[in-house]
Amino acid sequence: MSGPMRLFLVGAGHVGLVTAVGLAKLGHELVVSDVDAARIERLRAGEPPIFEPGLREALIELGSRVTFTTDPLPPAGVTCSFVIVNTPTDATGPLSIRNVRAAVGGLLAATDATHTIVVRSTLPLHGPAALAELRGGRADQASIVTNPEFMREGSALRDFEQPGRLVAGWVEPRDEPAARAVLDLYAGIDSERLVADAGSVALIKLASNVFLAMKIGYANELARLSEAIGADVRAVADGIGLDPRIGRAFLDAGPGFGGSCLPEQSTALAVESVRAAIEAPLIAAVERSNATHQGAIVERLARLLGRPLGDSRIAVLGLAFKANTDDVRESPALAIVERLRSAGASVVATDPRAVRRARLADPALEIAVDPEAAASGADAIVIATEWPDYRSLDWSPIATAMRGDLVFDTRSVADPAAVAAAGLRLVVLGRPDDRFSGAAERTPLAAGQPAS
Ligand code: UGA
Repeated sequence: MSGPMRLFLVGAGHVGLVTAVGLAKLGHELVVSDVDAARIERLRAGEPPIFEPGLREALIELGSRVTFTTDPLPPAGVTCSFVIVNTPTDATGPLSIRNVRAAVGGLLAATDATHTIVVRSTLPLHGPAALAELRGGRADQASIVTNPEFMREGSALRDFEQPGRLVAGWVEPRDEPAARAVLDLYAGIDSERLVADAGSVALIKLASNVFLAMKIGYANELARLSEAIGADVRAVADGIGLDPRIGRAFLDAGPGFGGSCLPEQSTALAVESVRAAIEAPLIAAVERSNATHQGAIVERLARLLGRPLGDSRIAVLGLAFKANTDDVRESPALAIVERLRSAGASVVATDPRAVRRARLADPALEIAVDPEAAASGADAIVIATEWPDYRSLDWSPIATAMRGDLVFDTRSVADPAAVAAAGLRLVVLGRPDDRFSGAAERTPLAAGQPAS
């Protein structure tokens, strides 16, 4: 596969659309298919169903280089099809390949050995064997290659162009030349390239994401340790991250990791380890670390308030699982809202972009139009998403609207001087607060107990 090609792509979701745009920018022509006719109509009208910075503009700019269809099979003459359908958690566990099987099965039936099927969906570790089984060893059928992505929501287009590495996996040894050819489609991207068996490639994908989740979980545990000993976790992360063997990325403490990838893939890797009869305490602990951290955030808030959460009104700023997306899947903000409500608090939330999807995820959620409206009558504000808007908030009207004076910033975005000037009390995750700093927040020694 050399030079610009006409490519078919099944799945007009987030990853599918960004991949289509990325490949089209490299000179290829894309026919994108989806079973959702309404989604295809919207895309034809220039309206992507999801928010991703630059995506809408790129689709307009690329014009007829990216077209849309509901036909699940490639047009005549096309010799390469991408499958980018979701692999959700279902009754069989995380990363179900039901949709992948259906799409690949349809393509195998409609194509021959001159065709290559590129599976870019995130696969469970048993996925490659299931795909080989689907083809049943037939040499007259299409090659199957896996090609996972390493794109973050919110910076997906940039990550497509600067992926760090391009990886392709062969499902059976006879697919190896096709795997190498798939990487040629990315000619123009300056990146390391790696070809391996698809089982190893599936593990590369999951293990990368779980390592990132582990890094975040580690930073979050260090944040609570920093609060307890009077340290500042941001300085600690900088100090650790300066070691080139560790690196500073993904060491920002926050309200826990969320999104459609890190939490589900942490579960998946733990499940796969159990399935393989491997004792893997580190992998098994990743999810527990995240949940423990979110519980601890709510406990700290209750301590700071000095009144029962049941009598409190809390305003949560941010609902998206991170900034620059409208995605609320596994959002730490929603997890914290849920924990606060379970503790009896009255909760109101706001977000510059994710309100529509948050309402769908949690119809009972009370929504305010902006931070000032959310602050009305609130005893405390919790900043849960690092939206740039929250760096430059006008805190005076917020202070006037509040009943209490506490701002608990889990993302280190609030401007301390502006918060203080409005007469509010700022507490930042990973730093001791004024009332509970240092030893005072540690469990007090019982009377008469020796100090060491
Ligand atoms: C993640 C990976 O970063 C991508 O490489 C991968 O391709 C993608 O999953 C996928 O499998 O499709 P994404 O889920 O978009 O991307 O989000 P991240 O940017 O990784 O953030 C995940 C969560 O960790 C967010 O809740 C974020 O706020 C949190 N986070 C991230 C921190 O709390 N601290 C950090 O230092 C970094």
